[in-house]
Amino acid sequence: MTHEVRGVVAGAKGAPVRMETILVPDPGPGEALVDIQACGVCHTDLHYREGGISADFPFLLGHEAAGVIADVGPGVTEVKPGDFVVLNWRAVCGRCRSCRRGRPWYCFNTHNARQPMTLADGTRLSPALGIGAFAERTLVAAGQCTKVDPAAGPEVSGLLGCGVMAGIGAAINTGAVSRSDSVAVIGCGGVGNGAIAGARLADAHTIIAVDLDQRKLDWAREIGATHVVNARETDPVEAIRERTRGHGADVVIEAVGRPETFKQAFYARDHAGTVVLVGVPTPEMTLEIPLLDVFSRGGAVKSSWYGDCLPSRDFPMLIDLYLQGRLPLDKFVTETIGLDGVEAAVDKMRAGEVLRSVVRL
Ligand SMILES: NC(=O)c1ccc[n+]([C@@H]2O[C@H](COP(=O)([O-])OP(=O)(O)OC[C@H]3O[C@@H](n4cnc5c(N)ncnc54)[C@H](O)[C@@H]3O)[C@@H](O)[C@H]2O)c1
Ligand SMILES: [Zn+2]
Ligand SMILES: [Zn+2]
Repeated sequence: MTHEVRGVVAGAKGAPVRMETILVPDPGPGEALVDIQACGVCHTDLHYREGGISADFPFLLGHEAAGVIADVGPGVTEVKPGDFVVLNWRAVCGRCRSCRRGRPWYCFNTHNARQPMTLADGTRLSPALGIGAFAERTLVAAGQCTKVDPAAGPEVSGLLGCGVMAGIGAAINTGAVSRSDSVAVIGCGGVGNGAIAGARLADAHTIIAVDLDQRKLDWAREIGATHVVNARETDPVEAIRERTRGHGADVVIEAVGRPETFKQAFYARDHAGTVVLVGVPTPEMTLEIPLLDVFSRGGAVKSSWYGDCLPSRDFPMLIDLYLQGRLPLDKFVTETIGLDGVEAAVDKMRAGEVLRSVVRL
């Protein structure tokens, strides 16, 4: 059977997104059909719409989602109909060279549903990050479904599916922030504020939030920043050094994805410190840094793919921390909207008016 549902599609580079009827097949072997309950609008959706990720239009957008398993295909044992799940874009294979080395969070062979979803005329859709969750139903690989405690509710749970997890993980997994560390986060959208929440969870003693937008900095304070820096008014590198006794922060997390903010992160860190790039650059961006500075400043320059998370390990743990009142995931939900509100939500994100707009189905 094919399921006819509504979905939000980016049809061409830079064009506004449209609501379309999409066709979702029944799950085949290893696949799961999911009734989406909530899906956040992430900056990566905007990257897709702008053609910054690939040219495989049309895209079925949305990838930060939670929902309930409607049906599973043959051979699926990890989830069953009725399970409440957060969707992930890291269904680990267990067999690639990274999985075999015991590092499944880098899995080099993650998988998605094999069968395509299409427009009503049969045009094949590219689901964003292999998910496509701005839709009433979507088809994913069963390994992309991570069962969590339903008590947290879908708006909050879905956040872990991408941006907030990427931020928390950039701090606790990639940056390995710990109690004695000072941390600075450049760019405080959903991802950067996730990093602030992660640094707080790890008991960092100083957490400096940097953004161009005062609203983002106000949210950062609520989520756990100990200091805020408006980069429109103050040089962020100087400001981070001032707040760390002139040294720079032990860990600086770049959550914008631009060369100039990466450079700030690189120079705002203490000697032998760590810089973590979690913001996603676009293909035309390049970086020039004296190689001697890379050498003489020492430490580590890392990128964080999806916060180096392992969904089966991290999602249930973070939901538990939320339910215990130790991780303020609810503070990330600025507004809930309908499927027809995605285009306006993208504009609001660009204008800095929201931390997360979450589509509620
Ligand atoms: N690595 C990953 O796995 C991963 C996962 C999800 C998203 N991302 C990426 O992370 C980035 C942030 O995503 P988001 O959803 O939080 O986006 P967002 O648009 O909500 O937030 C970006 C923030 O950066 C701020 N900013 C922009 N230019 C700045 C500058 N020069 N100095 C300081 N702040 C500046 C903006 O004001 C905004 O608050 C994007 O590039 C996104 O694609 C990465
Ligand atoms: Zn693997
Ligand atoms: Zn995302």
